[in-house]
Amino acid sequence: MRFSLIALIMLGLLGCKPSPKQDQAPPVPPVSVSKEDPHSYAQAFVATVTHADLDLKVDFDNQKIIGKVTLDVTKQADAQEIILDTKQLTIKAVQRLDAKGVSTAVPVQLGPEDEHKGAALIIPIDEYTGQVVVEYETQPGAEALQFLSPDLTADKKHPFLLTQSQSIFARTWVPIQDSPGIRFTYSAKVSVPPGLMAVMSAENPTEKNETGVYTFKMDQPIPAYLLALAVGDVEFKALGERSGVYAEPSVLEKAAYEFGEVEEMMDIAEDLYGPYQWDRYDIIVLPPSFPFGGMENPRLTFATPTILAGDRSLVSLVAHELAHSWSGNLVTNATWNDFWLNEGFTVYFENRIMEALNGPEYAGMLAQISMEDLRNEVADMGEDSRDTWLFQDLATRHPDDGMTSIAYEKGFYFLKLIEKNVGREAFDAFVSQYFSTYAFQTMNTASFVEILEKELLAAHPEAKDEIDIQAWIYGPGIPETIPFTPSSRFEAAEKAVDDFLKHGVRPQDLPTQDWSSHEWQHFIRSLPEEITEDRMAELDAVFNLTESTNAEVQFMWYLKAVKAEYEPSYPAIRAFLTEVGRRKFLAPLYRAMTENEIKLRMAKDIYQQARANYHPVSQGTIDEILNWGETM
Ligand code: BES
Ligand code: ZN
Repeated sequence: MRFSLIALIMLGLLGCKPSPKQDQAPPVPPVSVSKEDPHSYAQAFVATVTHADLDLKVDFDNQKIIGKVTLDVTKQADAQEIILDTKQLTIKAVQRLDAKGVSTAVPVQLGPEDEHKGAALIIPIDEYTGQVVVEYETQPGAEALQFLSPDLTADKKHPFLLTQSQSIFARTWVPIQDSPGIRFTYSAKVSVPPGLMAVMSAENPTEKNETGVYTFKMDQPIPAYLLALAVGDVEFKALGERSGVYAEPSVLEKAAYEFGEVEEMMDIAEDLYGPYQWDRYDIIVLPPSFPFGGMENPRLTFATPTILAGDRSLVSLVAHELAHSWSGNLVTNATWNDFWLNEGFTVYFENRIMEALNGPEYAGMLAQISMEDLRNEVADMGEDSRDTWLFQDLATRHPDDGMTSIAYEKGFYFLKLIEKNVGREAFDAFVSQYFSTYAFQTMNTASFVEILEKELLAAHPEAKDEIDIQAWIYGPGIPETIPFTPSSRFEAAEKAVDDFLKHGVRPQDLPTQDWSSHEWQHFIRSLPEEITEDRMAELDAVFNLTESTNAEVQFMWYLKAVKAEYEPSYPAIRAFLTEVGRRKFLAPLYRAMTENEIKLRMAKDIYQQARANYHPVSQGTIDEILNWGETM
């Protein structure tokens, strides 16, 4: 028994099938998905999920989801098993159903646990199998889930649950084929405590109901990383015909103001690259511990409240998540090694939306921020690092290791380079065509290069010579061809730094009146690291930077304050790190505090308090930065 179980698991893992019998019917054509996703056990070319029906009960008291998922299966004629990804799940029962719905219980067969991938759930099937059913429960600490106690929400009255499935965390709350190359439709029934609303990356309710039972349907096929659920005391407010916002009652009005440009963004996006294919575009504002700025869950972007600056200055993040409705959600990276196809295109598209909305100078500031992020990242990684290629090699690592400026900003500049050389008109026509041709499909880097060469560069041979595809995609560092133009508005901010530091101009006499939060960020970023406490204090006295209510400005200032050891900001830094769980802010701040013993002690003291407020994905990153657990 023991041997046969191991043998079965090995067979499943290695993909070795007993050879088909001679007289068998020819196999049905393979399903078109990547066979090469190193981060999933699923063997979609053997048997694949085409629809998931979820029945979930959210248990806040025990911080778990009790679930039953019924999966429709498409398979090769001779398929003997379907493999699902699971991680940190308790699998209670597995059944398979034939076409008539007759069920057969099958034993639970889990493969060995891998640190990143989790464990394969191997479900034996036969030629009659049409569906499989898995009953399960999530475990405490499930990486996708964050259960928040009421004190961590805006209104502090009700608990909140949010999920984050990208990159490979869907498998910690649903047993599923968790590979970006495998798409399925879904339906769901979710039971939550009365008084709370549940929303998903699907057709959503706009009102709470008495029963606490909500049903959902997502008719467009999506990969598992776009499965999402949020449960909390949220209300809905329409922004326009096709868009709206969900937020806790005290946040709703502010959010509705901040996102007032969404309909316009949608129109701009459609004019650029073709129709919005997901029907509605809503945004949910989550509690501040949400580990990301935004997440492009289809039909319902998840967003951090740290973009609610009150002046719409941080809404490029919404442009970004909206752009993913094309780049990523329609045309999806085949594996996490191809992540730049999702994010590079999205940063490019975001920049174009912001250019149309606020003008080229504004887009130029965003592009320069991209450039600086990229330069810093490459300097940190080392110019020759393999990690600086657009095409990543993450097979033995966690896909989230690829979430760096390389995919985002190097990807953005590569596309900008193509645009520059073929001209905007030709480039836009190509991109529109690309999104419509490959909609609801998967794209890998090699295919993209082929398509690019055939559909665009063949007609622009002179451009082809200027774009060194090899160097950009399969080479390290920042190629010299990077089409960077310094932003004129940032030059003014740099001049202000010089005037203040070198030419004796008082802070109140600097021309800051018309600055957006981007100029502020750049101004602070341009201050030298060895700036004295006194000079920091002078700026703070006039501009009140420690008390800023713009999270991006706060972040820049606090980072500078940590480096310059400007202690008057320390209490605000502590408060910020305790309240906000956005990894992009946390990681650099904690990292800056590892510079010396005194700051490290402060970091650990803050983290001791704040850790429980963070989402598991942020905890993982900060644990590593502070060697948490090892030295404690
Ligand atoms: N899809 C990403 C978030 C993500 C990537 C989560 C990889 C997990 C793994 C999202 O679209 C994103 O890029 N968010 C950014 C904001 C954006 C404006 C650059 C973020 O959260 O900071
Ligand atoms: Zn993104």
